[in-house]
Amino acid sequence: MTFSPRNRIEVMHGVNLDQLGRRASEHYGDMTLTELETRISTEAGDLGLLTRFFHTNQEGDFVEHLHRLEGLADGIVLNPGAWTHYSYAIRDALEITGLPAVEVHLSDVQHREPWRRVSVIEDLCLATVSGEGPEGYRLAFERIVPELGR
Ligand code: DQA
Repeated sequence: MTFSPRNRIEVMHGVNLDQLGRRASEHYGDMTLTELETRISTEAGDLGLLTRFFHTNQEGDFVEHLHRLEGLADGIVLNPGAWTHYSYAIRDALEITGLPAVEVHLSDVQHREPWRRVSVIEDLCLATVSGEGPEGYRLAFERIVPELGR
């Protein structure tokens, strides 16, 4: 019998998140995406999780990455950026994965422009964490761990 730890989390960042560090600091803080990923990977490690990171500014690449996750990830933590609010293509691809997922937003999307209050992936996710800054990713990991059936 092979032992499967089921601890592989795909952390996916969407459009414009590679611009962290240049974006409005009152919403997104000062960290770059690289700094954020370093922090995330340490925190995930503390919870016994193994992270792999993906970023793209191309919607189709985000979709195809989701298609390719079968057998490679046990859960997904995703911040699709603005795609969150309107991309049914990403929604459908997330559904196809069948994996437990948590949606994260650095900023408090419920208290910004009205269009940011809509998430087309929300009901596919175990939880949405928003407005907690980088800390939100740790909260997402804590939420996903019980779903991994380890
Ligand atoms: C974001 C919120 C989105 O509304 C926005 O378009 C982003 C980042 C966040 O992390 O707060 O690009 O997902």
